[in-house]
Amino acid sequence: MIEPMRIALLGFGSVGRAFSQLLHHKRKAFPFRIVGIHTARQGTVIDDRGLDRTPVFGPKAESLDAFLEAAKPEVLVEITTLNPATGEPAASHIRAAFRHGAHVVTANKGPIANCFAELHELAQQAGLEFRFESTVMDGAPIFNLYRYTLPGVRLTGFTGVLNSTCKLVVEAMREGLSFEDGVRRAQELGIAEADPSYDTEGWDSAAKAAALANVLMDARIRPSEIDTKGIGRLTTSRVLELKEKHKIVQLVARARRSVSDGKVKIRVRAEVLEETDILASVHGTSNLLLFHTDLMGTIGTVSLHPTPSQTAYGLFSDIVDIARTI
Ligand SMILES: NC(=O)c1ccc[n+]([C@@H]2O[C@H](COP(=O)([O-])OP(=O)(O)OC[C@H]3O[C@@H](n4cnc5c(N)ncnc54)[C@H](OP(=O)(O)O)[C@@H]3O)[C@@H](O)[C@H]2O)c1
Repeated sequence: MIEPMRIALLGFGSVGRAFSQLLHHKRKAFPFRIVGIHTARQGTVIDDRGLDRTPVFGPKAESLDAFLEAAKPEVLVEITTLNPATGEPAASHIRAAFRHGAHVVTANKGPIANCFAELHELAQQAGLEFRFESTVMDGAPIFNLYRYTLPGVRLTGFTGVLNSTCKLVVEAMREGLSFEDGVRRAQELGIAEADPSYDTEGWDSAAKAAALANVLMDARIRPSEIDTKGIGRLTTSRVLELKEKHKIVQLVARARRSVSDGKVKIRVRAEVLEETDILASVHGTSNLLLFHTDLMGTIGTVSLHPTPSQTAYGLFSDIVDIARTI
C-alpha cells in the first residue's frame, strides 16, 4: 500500500512535464498529487486537489518561502536549471524545503556535486529524506542500487562514460565531419549544455563524478577540484587516424580510493580505447558506469538512449521509496 503524497515542483521544463505525464499515467496505483508548481518565468500555480498535465500558471509567488508556505508539500521536487560550478540556487532551494519540513527529490546534480555532505546532514537533522537518483544517469538505478541491493559492499572506485555531447562529437568526426558539426548535432538533439564547452571540456563529467564520489565514497570533493581534460583539442584527422587502427576516443571519468592514504582520486580524460573495449560500446546519448567493489568485483549499469521520461522515472522511484519508508 503506497501512502498518498502531496508534491510540489520547482521548475517545469522537459523533466517537469515528463514527470507530470508519468504521475498521470500511474495515478491509479500511486496516489501522488502535484499540489503546486513554481518556476522562474512561467509563474506559480497551486491547487490542493491536484494539478492536471497542462497547468495554467498565475503570477509568480513572491518568494520560494511564500510558495512552500501556501502549497505545503510533503515532497519538493527540485528540477531547476543546473549550475555545476556552485550548485546554486538549487542548493538554497533544498535548504528552504527542509526548513519547511518537506522531503526533497532532485534531478539537479549541482547541489550533489558541490555540497552533498552539508545537505545530507541538514536532512538528517530535520528527520527528512533527500534523494537524487536522476542526477548522474537519468533514471537508471545507481544510488538505490547501493542502498538496497549490495549490503556490506565497499566501493573502491568507478569508471564512467557519462557525457553524450562528447560521444556525438567524436562520432561525427569519425564520419569525417568537424568538431563544430558534432557540437551542432548535439545542440539539435537538445542534449548539449547552453555553453557546449561545459560538455566538451569535461565539466559535466567532473560534476557527475563528484556527485558519485561524494555520495558513494564520502569524497567531499567539488567538480573544480577534479583533474579534468576534455576533447577540446581533438581534430578530425587524429580521430580518423585512430579509426584506421580500430581505436576510438571516449571521455572517461575514473575514480579510485588510494590504498596508501584512503583519499579518493578522480580524473576525467579523453582516452584512446580499442573499439572492442566495453567503454567504447556506448554511443550517442547512451551512458555506461562500472563500479569496482571489494566483494562483488566489477559490476555496471548501462542506460541506452535515455530521454527526460527516464529522468522523470528516477524522480518517481525516489518518491515511491520515500512513501514506503516514512
Ligand atoms: N533533461 C534531462 O533529460 C535531464 C537529465 C538528468 C538531469 N536533468 C536535470 O534536471 C533539471 C531540469 O532539467 P530540464 O531539462 O527540465 O530543464 P529545463 O527544461 O531547462 O527547465 C528548467 C526549469 O527550471 C525553472 N527554473 C530555473 N531557475 C529557477 C528558479 N530560480 N526558480 C524556479 N524555477 C526555476 C525554469 O523556469 P521557466 O520555465 O519559468 O523558465 C524551467 O521551468 C536540471 O537540473 C537538469 O540538469 C535533466
